[in-house]
Amino acid sequence: MKCTLYTFLAALLVVFLQGCRSEPEMLVASPDGDIRLQFRLDSVGTPSYEVSFKGLPVILPSTMGFEFKDQAPLGGNMEILQISRDSLDESWNMPWGEQAVVQNHYNELRVALKEKGNPHRRVDVVFRIFDDGLGFRYEFPEQEGMDEVVISDENTEFRLTGDHKVWWLPGDWDSYEHLYKATPFSEIDALQERDDPNLTATYIPENAVNTPVTMKTGDGLYLSFHESDLTNYAGMTLKVNPGDFSMKSELVGSERLGGKARVSAPFETPWRTLQIAERPGDLIESRMILNLNDPNAIGDVGYFTPMKYVGIWWEMHLGKSTWDMEGSQNMSSYTEGTRALPHHGATTENAKRYIDFAAANGFKGLLVEGWNTGWDKWINNEDREGVFDFITPYADYDFDEVRDYAEVHGVQIIMHHETSAAPRTYEKQMPAAYKFMQDNHIHSVKTGYVGKVIPKGEYHHGQWMVNHYQKVLEEAARMKIAVDAHEPIKATGKRRTFPNAISREGLRGQEFNAWSVDGGNPPDHLPTVAFTRMLAGPIDFTPGIFNLKFDEYKKDNQVNTTLAKQLALYVVIYSPIQMVADLPEHYMLHGAFHPALQFIRDVGVDWSESRVLAGEIGEYVTIARKEKGSERWFVGGITNEDARDQKLHLDFLTAGKTYTATLYTDAEDADWDTNPQAYSIETREVNSTDILNLQMAPGGGFAVSIIPKAPSL
Ligand code: NOJ
Ligand code: CA
Repeated sequence: MKCTLYTFLAALLVVFLQGCRSEPEMLVASPDGDIRLQFRLDSVGTPSYEVSFKGLPVILPSTMGFEFKDQAPLGGNMEILQISRDSLDESWNMPWGEQAVVQNHYNELRVALKEKGNPHRRVDVVFRIFDDGLGFRYEFPEQEGMDEVVISDENTEFRLTGDHKVWWLPGDWDSYEHLYKATPFSEIDALQERDDPNLTATYIPENAVNTPVTMKTGDGLYLSFHESDLTNYAGMTLKVNPGDFSMKSELVGSERLGGKARVSAPFETPWRTLQIAERPGDLIESRMILNLNDPNAIGDVGYFTPMKYVGIWWEMHLGKSTWDMEGSQNMSSYTEGTRALPHHGATTENAKRYIDFAAANGFKGLLVEGWNTGWDKWINNEDREGVFDFITPYADYDFDEVRDYAEVHGVQIIMHHETSAAPRTYEKQMPAAYKFMQDNHIHSVKTGYVGKVIPKGEYHHGQWMVNHYQKVLEEAARMKIAVDAHEPIKATGKRRTFPNAISREGLRGQEFNAWSVDGGNPPDHLPTVAFTRMLAGPIDFTPGIFNLKFDEYKKDNQVNTTLAKQLALYVVIYSPIQMVADLPEHYMLHGAFHPALQFIRDVGVDWSESRVLAGEIGEYVTIARKEKGSERWFVGGITNEDARDQKLHLDFLTAGKTYTATLYTDAEDADWDTNPQAYSIETREVNSTDILNLQMAPGGGFAVSIIPKAPSL
């Protein structure tokens, strides 16, 4: 009897202890409860997670794990050491951005895992769930045997619930400058995008996509996968398995390293992020990617002021002038193999002409490409290492004279550093180059990385280059310099920590319209970019082309939008620096400035509020933004090749206030291909109860400035 009671109590204890150990609460939900994430360890100790939104599955159980160069894989035979929770609800101010104040509200679940067998490696998986999506990352605490390891694969799965519609780019290790494709998930075929003749560097090793990758589910839900805070790690592509609708992280590799990332514990991976939205516009309004980054680490960035800028730039892309003084290098000489006309673009005289144009219209910046020696060897040359320095001007460019002329006219010079993808040389030259900028009161630089990365075996999106781009940001911050990187690593919200990361390229920009051999960017490009690339961060797209056909330079190329759509881009495509990209002479009409230039003069570049009023991915999008420190609103709408009517409710305006709205629209007979420059301008008095009916032509758009009416005296 005694024995039976003892056995019974012991059994009770075992059940109790087992209950404690195997059924810990591993569910975490968003503050509003709509998104729920469940973490699990299966019977053999493999970690997995699954996600639902309003009770519907979004991510089916998906496993996690790592492979290493000189260690056994990690991912099975794990046990839970500890579970902890946290939550945060704070707001922070953006020094510049789409809005002034950002809310950062999430619930966190941290699961500390340990291998059951030798060598008992440890990793924490940290999940943060917001109302607009979630992020998770792996944190490896300091531990023996992990002082230095090479990750050969990160195996984070994302198992989708069906054959979603996907807007994707190939998982190119060297370039994001591809056109988006919209296909069912099962038809993603990245390998077809290999060998793009427009790209000087491209490497697509397998059927994978780059991020952000955006999808629409059969239930009408919008998903976008990306990463946040990419630091000392390789960029992530997502390998697709069209057969079972699953994706797996595939890090960009390095042949020199013989792996993907060299790390030493303690270290943490970037956040793997998933935005979830019922309305496509909510993807754009989300600040989750930013919230997952650390707060500002570099202090005041008052040395950078958001601005519109002009540049000796488009003329080299059109083939009007050359980057080099020798007169051989412009984009026509590159794409067509023809010899360029020997007109150097960056001359003292031409720079002054641009400064006059900028000053007359209130544009605050001037970019000068081709000011420094070395451009005769910058492209199509295996031996590109060290062709540039960033302190020696060409003989026909009087640096001091241009600097002084700009200063007198209230225009800042934006420095240009084309590294031709030779980062080792650039790192050596950086101190002198930035000192030169400081000595000349220049506070922003456009960098460039055209060509295959030197040394061979490294790729633009691999860990080695991620660290290079980071080093540039840090060194620049020390010297009070803001960076606009072209051929960059993708934006992952780092601008929160390093707000001197002002803008970047990392997409097929305007330049492709000048010279690409595939007809330029089609009309649906930008309505797609707004819901994909733009979720990552600011874009230096360089809008504002008025001479859309430019037959005098290129018969076979054109910009595939209307003029009104070019205006709309100043609002739709966010960047704190916006180029006024066309040639000064193209902004003239009948001997005076083109009337539509007024919108570019007026439009803001820094915002206290941004609202996506309407949109469907790849079809159209309308965004309203309120200028920071003012009561002025600007609205931009763009469409793909379909004409569209838009009802614009002005209920975002302050009730009871009267405004003057100027509507820059497509003329009735406008069309991106047959009549792109036909526009109309109309001015009206409006208030918050008004609705504007706006028509967009095929490939067109509209731009509206809404400025408070001065009280009459
Ligand atoms: C590529 C950049 O995207 C473009 O803007 C620039 O003009 C050329 N590189 C030259 O640096
Ligand atoms: Ca480029």
